[in-house]
Amino acid sequence: MTLNNESTKKLTGAIELLLESSSRINEAKPRRYWYPLSLATYGVEEIIEALDSLCSFRTTMWEKTLQFERQFAVYQNCSDSVMVNSGSSADLLMCFLLTNPVQPLLNLGDEILVPIVTWPTQIWSAMMAGLKVRFVDVNPTTLNIDIEDLERKITPSTKAIFLVHLMGNPCDMDQVMAIAKKYDLHIIEDCCEALGAEWNGTKVGNFGLAGSYSFFFSHHMTTMEGGMVACANHEITEQLKILRAHGWVRNVDPTLYDLTNYDVDPRYAFVNWGFNVRPTDVQASFGLHQLQKLPGFNKRRIELANKFFDFIDNQPWLSRPKSDPKASPSWFALPLLVATDAPFSRKEITNYLEIKGVETRPLVAGNIAKHPVAKIFSEFNVNTYPGADIIHQQGFYLGLSPFHTDQDIDKLIDCMETFIFKFN
Ligand SMILES: Cc1ncc(COP(=O)(O)O)c(C=O)c1O
Repeated sequence: MTLNNESTKKLTGAIELLLESSSRINEAKPRRYWYPLSLATYGVEEIIEALDSLCSFRTTMWEKTLQFERQFAVYQNCSDSVMVNSGSSADLLMCFLLTNPVQPLLNLGDEILVPIVTWPTQIWSAMMAGLKVRFVDVNPTTLNIDIEDLERKITPSTKAIFLVHLMGNPCDMDQVMAIAKKYDLHIIEDCCEALGAEWNGTKVGNFGLAGSYSFFFSHHMTTMEGGMVACANHEITEQLKILRAHGWVRNVDPTLYDLTNYDVDPRYAFVNWGFNVRPTDVQASFGLHQLQKLPGFNKRRIELANKFFDFIDNQPWLSRPKSDPKASPSWFALPLLVATDAPFSRKEITNYLEIKGVETRPLVAGNIAKHPVAKIFSEFNVNTYPGADIIHQQGFYLGLSPFHTDQDIDKLIDCMETFIFKFN
């Protein structure tokens, strides 16, 4: 940080005043939700760090991005990490790593197995990278990939699995890794909802070639928009950096490319195709402070989720995802399923909650094969997905912010009890 103590002190006072007056203005406005899907988790430190980048004219990807990448890799316990402008871009780069024209791991048209309940950019990334997506059903009790269907869907063309640890609940990595080994499949992991989750003491995202993370506003930590790829080795990291920025070699390990026989300016030397999905140092400024707060945020999310789940576990008509004893979930939200034999529908309970000021939403995107986009791509129409259909019809989720209070959860439980009581 280039700001000195004196300026930091003055700025802190000014930002505190700004934050205070904006919260007073917001409080004066009628609020639709007292329990929203997300709450802001950043404050004075992130704003000052971002201002420091703006005032030192270092707004594009620079030293803070590098520093944040290094610190993230230490937190994640992986070889290296590569920051990008969103979790979707992280998914995109991981898929383009598989079909990278330089050292391709897979051929165009090879099959990749992807769960049908996920955020759609996971699917689009694989398709755009030239892979044939084969969908796997999802187990409604865990919200994760159905292991039996996973093995059933493998064909001689299947070369990779693209997992998602939905809602921060880790997939059964013992079974997934056994299948991957048996059929010689590459693994990549979408951990955009699972930052900090572990399977048997290993952080998710570290099981295969790479793992993706999202730092969107409502996620475990935020850089406003932003994402990261956790990489298994140095080679992958360097290839991802090239794909991240235009296909050029700037910021890449100079020992990897010998340019002596090329009549090109080494600062503008292109060695592959690529995108521009670079983050800014303003985003990295947020990341540096949010990463320090992350263990506290996650601890609080788990405490609040457990309090709520204790209530849900005693309800006959509502359930929440079950986790394996080997899993340490890093809950992203409060996901729920309404039992099919419940005396009320999903719509009735979510309508009630919305009227009472509790924001609700579908479980990620439900069964994506049921969306209009499925008509465009033949991949969607091959099978039915009974597990995903249950999530689509019966599932919804509520927010889970480290800034919600115990009293918020008590009030939420009271609200749900009042609704359920009518049916007893
Ligand atoms: C599972 C999953 N993957 C990918 C993404 C994409 O992340 P972003 O919104 O940062 O592009 C999300 C976003 O919520 C997600 O939930």
